[in-house]
Amino acid sequence: MLAFRSSRLLDGHELTSPYKSLHDSYVSNRRDSKCPVSALLAAGCLLVLGILLAVAVIETLKNEDRIHEMGSGCVISPSIVLVESFPLGVDYGRKVKAGVNLFEAWKDLLSSASKQIDVASFYWCLTGEDISVNSSSDTPVPSTLTRSLDCRVQIRRVNFGRLTKGILHSKFWIVDGKHVYIGSANMDWRALTQVKELGVVIYNSSALAADLQKIFQSYWVTGRSNASIPDPWPSDYDTDINEERPLLLNLSGVESKAYITASPPVFCPDSRTRDLDAILSAIRGAQDFIHVAVMEFYPASKFFHHHGYWPVIEDALKRSAVDRNVSVCLLVSCGRETDPAVWPFIRSLDALHSPSDNINIAVRVFVIPAGNQSHIPYSRVNHNKYLVTDKVAYVGTSNWSADYFNTTAGVALVLSQDASGSSFHQQLRAVFDRDWSSRYSHPLADLHRIHDCAFSTSAPSQHET
Ligand SMILES: *[C@@H]1O[C@H](CO)[C@@H](O)[C@H](O)[C@H]1NC(C)=O
Ligand SMILES: *[C@@H]1O[C@H](CO)[C@@H](O)[C@H](O)[C@H]1NC(C)=O
Ligand SMILES: *[C@@H]1O[C@H](CO)[C@@H](O)[C@H](O)[C@H]1NC(C)=O
Ligand SMILES: *[C@@H]1O[C@H](CO)[C@@H](O)[C@H](O)[C@H]1NC(C)=O
Ligand SMILES: *[C@@H]1O[C@H](CO)[C@@H](O)[C@H](O)[C@H]1NC(C)=O
Ligand SMILES: *[C@@H]1O[C@H](CO)[C@@H](O)[C@H](O)[C@H]1NC(C)=O
Ligand SMILES: *[C@@H]1O[C@H](CO)[C@@H](O)[C@H](O)[C@H]1NC(C)=O
Ligand SMILES: *[C@@H]1O[C@H](CO)[C@@H](O)[C@H](O)[C@H]1NC(C)=O
Repeated sequence: MLAFRSSRLLDGHELTSPYKSLHDSYVSNRRDSKCPVSALLAAGCLLVLGILLAVAVIETLKNEDRIHEMGSGCVISPSIVLVESFPLGVDYGRKVKAGVNLFEAWKDLLSSASKQIDVASFYWCLTGEDISVNSSSDTPVPSTLTRSLDCRVQIRRVNFGRLTKGILHSKFWIVDGKHVYIGSANMDWRALTQVKELGVVIYNSSALAADLQKIFQSYWVTGRSNASIPDPWPSDYDTDINEERPLLLNLSGVESKAYITASPPVFCPDSRTRDLDAILSAIRGAQDFIHVAVMEFYPASKFFHHHGYWPVIEDALKRSAVDRNVSVCLLVSCGRETDPAVWPFIRSLDALHSPSDNINIAVRVFVIPAGNQSHIPYSRVNHNKYLVTDKVAYVGTSNWSADYFNTTAGVALVLSQDASGSSFHQQLRAVFDRDWSSRYSHPLADLHRIHDCAFSTSAPSQHET
C-alpha cells in the first residue's frame, strides 16, 4: 500500500473546496514505496494541493536518470487524439462527434507504460468515500484500474502557496518520455463521470515529452523542502520550442507546429512562451473567428488583488472584434457552485453583441443539469479550457482570470496545422460547434429559467434584451 495514504495526511483537510484550501500544511516531500499501479490510482484522496508523482514502472531502472529519447534510429511518427469526458446523463439528443473517452485514453497510457510515468496534478481523489459521497459513478475508476506492476513511486508536494501565493493547477502526464497528456481533468473520479473535460494526448513525440519534462522538473526541484524559485532558471530549463520556434511534426499525418506554454511567469525561463502571451497572440492573430470555451472568464484577480480589474484578455477579444471584424464566441460554464461575481462581466461582453454595427461578440452559458446527482459537490460543470481560431488550437488547464496567469501553475499545448478535415484543429472546432449549438448552451436572456446555474437568480429578465 502506498505510504502517502496516511491518516495524518487526511486529517483536517476536508475537500470542501480545493480552491479555498490554499493552506500550507507541509507534507514530507519524498516517499518511496513499492506498489502496484492499481494501488497508486486507487489510493483515494490526497487532500493536499500540488501533487507530483514520478512512477518508475520497472524496478531495475530505479537508479537510472529519466529516459527522454528512445534511442532508436528509426522514425516513429507521432499521433494526436482529442480526449473528452461527459457527465453521466449528458445526451446531445442526436448523433454527435466526440473525442476519445478520457478514461480509455488514461488506461491506454498506463498500459503502454514500460518505464516511467510522471504526473503533475492539483490534487488526487479517486473514490466517493474520500469526499463522503455515495455514488456508483466512482466504481469504474477504482475497479477498472487493476493493472499490477512492480513500481517505485516518488511523490513531492510543491508548496506554491509559499512560493508564489498561488497553486499548482497543472494537469499533465508524461509516459516513458514519449507520450504526453495535457487537459482540464483533475486526478479525480468526478472528472471521468461527473464533470465535462477536454484534453489532448500526443503519442510518440519524444521531443514534446522532453520539453514538458522540463516543466515537470521545475516543479520537482521546487518540491524540495524550503526550495526557492531559481532566478534565473539554469540553462537546463531553457527550451528551443516556443512560439517563435515551434516544433515541426507530422501529427497523425498532418503537418503541424506545436509548442507548450507555462505559467506563472516566475517558472518560465525567457525561452518559454508564457501561457497568457500564447492566448493573446492567438486572439490577435485570428482573422476570421475566435471560439473560446472556458470554465470561468473573469477579467479580474480573485486572490492576489481582491477583485482588482484585469481586462487584458477581454481587451484583446474586443479589439479583434471591433477593429478587425473577427467573430468572437465565448462559451462559459455555470453550475450550482459557480461564483456569481463573474456574472456582471459576462453580461457586459454580451451587451456588445451588435452584428449590425459589425461587432460579432456572442456569449453563451453551458449548464449541465445536476438531476439526481446533486449530492456530489463540485460536479456537473463544463470544465473545458480551450480556444480555437481560424489559425490555432489551444488546449490549456487555466481559467481565464488574472491569478491563473500570474501566480498559478498551468500549462497548455498550442498547435497550428495545415488545413485538413481530419486535423486536431478541425476536430476542436467541431467540438466547439457541437457544444455551442447543443441543448446545454443558453443565451444569457434564458438563464432565469435554468435552475442549475448560479447566475439564474441574477439573470436579466427577458424584456431587457
Ligand atoms: C508509437 O510508435 C510505435 C512504434 O512505431 C507504434 O508501434 C505505436 O503504435 C505508436 N503509438 C501510437 C499510439 O501511434
Ligand atoms: C453510503 O451507503 C451505505 C450503504 O449503502 C451506508 O451505510 C453509508 O452510511 C452511506 N454513506 C453516506 C455518506 O451516505
Ligand atoms: C526549512 O526552514 C526552516 C525555517 O526556516 C528550518 O527550521 C528547517 O530546518 C529547514 N528545513 C530544511 C530541510 O532545510
Ligand atoms: C506524414 O505522415 C503520413 C503518415 O502518417 C505520411 O503519409 C505523410 O507523407 C507524412 N508527411 C510528410 C510531409 O512527411
Ligand atoms: C464582418 O463579418 C461578418 C461575418 O462575421 C460579415 O457578415 C460582415 O460583412 C463583415 N463586415 C465588414 C465590414 O467586413
Ligand atoms: C438518475 O436519473 C437517470 C435519468 O435521469 C436514471 O436513468 C437513473 O436511474 C437515476 N438514478 C437513480 C439512482 O435514481
Ligand atoms: C476556476 O476553475 C475552478 C475549477 O477548475 C473553479 O472551481 C474556480 O471557481 C474557478 N475560478 C477561480 C477564479 O478560481
Ligand atoms: C502578479 O503578481 C505579482 C507578484 O508576483 C504582483 O506584484 C502583481 O501585482 C500581480 N498582478 C496581478 C494583475 O495580480
